[in-house]
Amino acid sequence: MHYAEQEYVTGCFPKIALAAGMLFLTAGEGPTNRLFALGRHLAQECTSCHRPDGPSAGGIPCIVGRDPKYLVEALQMYKSGQRTNPTMASVAQSLDDEQIEALARYFASLPKRGGGNASAEKGGPTAQR
Ligand code: HEC
Repeated sequence: MHYAEQEYVTGCFPKIALAAGMLFLTAGEGPTNRLFALGRHLAQECTSCHRPDGPSAGGIPCIVGRDPKYLVEALQMYKSGQRTNPTMASVAQSLDDEQIEALARYFASLPKRGGGNASAEKGGPTAQR
C-alpha cells in the first residue's frame, strides 16, 4: 500500500518524522517495514477508541501524527504504572517492547486530518477521565 507523499505534510507532523515516513515508502523488505506492518496490524486494537484520522470523542487523545518517541514513552509509562489510566494500563501491559515501537511508528506516520485537538498538540499528559 502506498501513501501519497503530500499526506505527510498535514497537521502536527514534524520534519524529522516526515523523513522517517519517507523511509517507509522506500524501505521495501527491511526491518523498518516489518515493524510498520506489525504496527498497522496491532492498531486494530486501538482504533475503536483512538480514531486513525485525528481527534476522538470523549477525552480520548489524538495519537496520530505525533512524535513516535512520545508515543513509546507514554505506552511504557502506562505499562510501568507511572501513568495510571486503567484502560491504557491494561492495553499497554499486553504489549511487548517491539509491539509498542511498532504501534508508535504506525500511528506517528498517519496524517492528522480535520485539524482540531489543540490540547493533544502540547504533548502533556491528558488528565480527562
Ligand atoms: C478502550 C479505549 C482505548 C483503547 C482500546 C486504547 N486506548 Fe489509548 N487511551 C485511551 C484513553 C481514554 C486515553 C487517555 C488516558 C489518560 O488520561 O491517561 C488513552 C491514552 C493513550 C496514549 C497517551 C496519549 C497522550 O496524549 O499522552 C497513547 C500513546 C495511547 N493511548 C495509545 C494506545 C494504543 C497504541 C492502543 C492500542 C494498542 C490504545 N491506546 C488503545 C483509550 C483507549
